[in-house]
Amino acid sequence: MHFHIMTLFPDMVMSGLGTSITGRAIANGLLSIEAVNIRDYAFNKHNSVDDYPYGGGAGMLMQAEPVYLAYRAIEEQIERRRAESEGGQDGRPCAAQGGAKTRVIYLSPQGQTFNQEMAQELAREEDLVLLCGHYEGIDERVLEEIVTDYVSIGDYVLTGGELPAMVMVDTISRLVPGVLHNDVSAEFESFQDNLLEYPQYSRPEVWHDKQVPPILLSGHHANIEKWRREQSVIRTAMRRPDLLAKAELTEAERRLAEG
Ligand code: ADE
Repeated sequence: MHFHIMTLFPDMVMSGLGTSITGRAIANGLLSIEAVNIRDYAFNKHNSVDDYPYGGGAGMLMQAEPVYLAYRAIEEQIERRRAESEGGQDGRPCAAQGGAKTRVIYLSPQGQTFNQEMAQELAREEDLVLLCGHYEGIDERVLEEIVTDYVSIGDYVLTGGELPAMVMVDTISRLVPGVLHNDVSAEFESFQDNLLEYPQYSRPEVWHDKQVPPILLSGHHANIEKWRREQSVIRTAMRRPDLLAKAELTEAERRLAEG
């Protein structure tokens, strides 16, 4: 999977995502993450990419043209790569060969709220373009022209789209097959069934006078699974009761959730 992050702060994005699990996945060739510096596409001698908003008001806006040129450069690169890997006809643009349009996500508090289901859907894409705004936003005209999805990471306002883009890349990356060493760990975790994950314990068996639940030491896998499922239901009922409406529960589990 290929992520293309359009930003004014490429170092911020790459220093955050070049480490740990995403860093290893990049090294293993499972992911690529490129940060495209929008400033490289400034079209004036001061290298500026922002200007005052028409009609007045506070702050500056990112201008349409540098954003558009940066986007076009990414699109061309994607089209070239796809044409080459498909043994494509003399590098003709992929869209011309009937390829699907690349999703271009604008990170904005006005977007649809990001969640695990959206992450799963996006993890099926071959390329994702993430557009990070700054200042008071971006000229509406270029958004109309290139953006396919508006995504927010929550009802609060950050200074820019970089942290939200990093949150999205991290969440989506770990769903790409092979990125987590143990693919089942992405299956049995919080939100996958609209249930929170059960509590987990490691050595020692007793810590600060607290004993690991004896069932986990029993070696009886069916009972352990049953206990974990119950704990997930109880925990979700306590901490995130709003999720239960969407969870598929048996009659007994519903009763358990209702306490
Ligand atoms: N940019 C600023 N705030 C944001 C948010 N909450 N989600 C996504 N992008 C943003």
